[in-house]
Amino acid sequence: MSLPGRFITFEGIDGAGKTTHIDALEQAWRQQGRDVVRTREPGGTPLAEKLRELVLHDSMDPLTEALLVFSARRDHLQQVIRPALARGAWVLCDRFTDATFAYQGAGRGFELGVLRQLETWVQEGLQPDLTLLFDLPPAVAAGRLQAARQPDRFEALDAAFFERVRSGYLARQAAQPDRFAIIQADARPEEVAEQVRETIAAKGWA
Ligand code: TMP
Repeated sequence: MSLPGRFITFEGIDGAGKTTHIDALEQAWRQQGRDVVRTREPGGTPLAEKLRELVLHDSMDPLTEALLVFSARRDHLQQVIRPALARGAWVLCDRFTDATFAYQGAGRGFELGVLRQLETWVQEGLQPDLTLLFDLPPAVAAGRLQAARQPDRFEALDAAFFERVRSGYLARQAAQPDRFAIIQADARPEEVAEQVRETIAAKGWA
């Protein structure tokens, strides 16, 4: 059954610059008085934030990593996302399951069939209404990250890893093109913001 709210996710390799644009959309919609829920994955609930710390900082085997990410997602869906959508809110989520297919699947080479099974169990058919994929060459993203904080387990990985992650995202987009909008994230920030605005306007959600 479809829920009255709208579920929008934001994806891309580390350093794609999506946070600034989620901030802008959140602020614009709050000013319009909309019920906006801004959240992120892994995380978004007290339990899922604890799991996030483990996933980002402790070493573990790929199945453990995939299970923890989906455990966090299950709690997040039950506690935050589904209730928000049920009351008609606009949910803006920084990363979701496409990140698992891109990072654990394409990046780490973990079996996609297992990820699909977990996706089915955990989401019970719920998918984002729209996913904005901030796409750019990993070399450009790496340059942006250099000035940033201490890297986590993923940010510290090499360019070849991020090439695979980028391909993993594009493969998800190719499989479900109607759900995705590709944002050319190596453009100037104002141009990227304009692409985001146009995408939202095209949905009739501006
Ligand atoms: P963030 O720093 O953009 O919040 O993302 C946290 C990191 O977690 C990022 O490097 C991507 C990674 N990640 C996964 O590996 N699998 C997932 O399912 C999610 C949601 C994030």
